[in-house]
Amino acid sequence: MSDLKGHSQHVVGQGSPVDETMRIAYLKAMGIQPWFLKYQTVIVDDVQPSAAEPEVNAGEESPGIDVGAGIEIANASLEQLQHIVSQCQLCELHASRIHTVFGSGKADADLLIIGEAPGEDEDAQGESFVGQAGQLLNAMLQAIDLDRQVVYLTNVIKCRPPENRNPHISETICCDPYLQRQIELVKPKLILALGRVAAQHLLMSQDNLGEMRGKQHSYNGIPLIVSYHPAYLLRKPVEKRKSWQDLQRVKQIINSSF
Ligand code: URA
Repeated sequence: MSDLKGHSQHVVGQGSPVDETMRIAYLKAMGIQPWFLKYQTVIVDDVQPSAAEPEVNAGEESPGIDVGAGIEIANASLEQLQHIVSQCQLCELHASRIHTVFGSGKADADLLIIGEAPGEDEDAQGESFVGQAGQLLNAMLQAIDLDRQVVYLTNVIKCRPPENRNPHISETICCDPYLQRQIELVKPKLILALGRVAAQHLLMSQDNLGEMRGKQHSYNGIPLIVSYHPAYLLRKPVEKRKSWQDLQRVKQIINSSF
């Protein structure tokens, strides 16, 4: 645990950088074997993509997924990765899901927004941030002249936890290779982590949200900002003021990176 605490306190500049070596050290400190490093080939079955799948690059030709052949997560395109995720049965959440919720938006967005997990509406529709929290997120984006078509939205885990409970660490670990590959493919200029679960996972930290927000962190060299989850803001509107400050910072970073 002391290693783990040490990682969360690695401070360079104003925030904490995370790289692959730290990620693996963190998993080891948690007593978790980073098995996914050994098993990066996922065999996909001959199952038709779900109705919700074509959300990424809709209208483009199918990438011609070689059904039945091994597709390496490390080499998958976004569409291939979405297909792999749609077949995933690595944790128990697959049994209760209606849809996997992969992510949507601009495939090469400057801003990647990462939430916690799909809720009921997202599970029903197969798309991230479409419920009440999603409506508020849309309004927040509009306030800084962005809309969801120009950002990329996803979650740490791709299946809904029953009763919207917090994801278990084993579930976030199972989904982590998918998220890492999404980040690699989208190559955002900035990551916005919404809520404690997303921020702690991405920063491999046990700090609370108040300690993580208001700083600029980095994830594999990509600037990362932490802010309140819109679902929390719906319950505690008084925090919208601080969320607005975070959004201003988001806007500033995106504008300055051109
Ligand atoms: N909350 C999240 O974290 N993600 C969603 O997609 C919806 C609600």
